[in-house]
Amino acid sequence: MKIPVRYFSRGGNTKKLADAIANAVGVTAETTDVPLTEDVDILFLGSSVYAYGVDEHVKDFINGIDVKIGKVVGFSTAALVKSTYHQVDKLLAAKGIPHAKEEFYCRGSFGLMHKGHPNAEDLEHAATFAREIVRF
Ligand SMILES: Cc1cc2nc3c(=O)[nH]c(=O)nc-3n(C[C@H](O)[C@H](O)[C@H](O)COP(=O)(O)O)c2cc1C
Repeated sequence: MKIPVRYFSRGGNTKKLADAIANAVGVTAETTDVPLTEDVDILFLGSSVYAYGVDEHVKDFINGIDVKIGKVVGFSTAALVKSTYHQVDKLLAAKGIPHAKEEFYCRGSFGLMHKGHPNAEDLEHAATFAREIVRF
């Protein structure tokens, strides 16, 4: 199975999830600057929220996808909103790319809010989530 992990992270919070997920499924996480070059079964795609929106890098990455994808499984960190699911869903739908209903989300530190998150427990939950997705 081809199971790449791509993410965009300004401050490192989402990168922590990406690395935990990639490690759990036996691949290396790459940023959204690295395009997909072959058809994939499951794409784990990480993003976060900046001023209510996902970063342009994530939009550009999704818009640039030109390989076949079995399904995208999203993961995200944010301080206030409950994940980037709906924003990413719209971008994927516009491209006709299947988006799994399952996702992984946890709080990401932002100034004094949610200090230390994602923490070790969050990362263990992310790894468990990824293993369960791949077993389906
Ligand atoms: C410039 C900026 C704007 C942000 N705006 C929001 C926001 O509108 N809603 C929210 O829930 N979190 C917001 N956050 C918090 C981030 O989503 C959170 O810190 C996230 O974990 C950052 O992920 P990263 O470290 O991978 O970049 C913002 C953070 C920054 C730096």
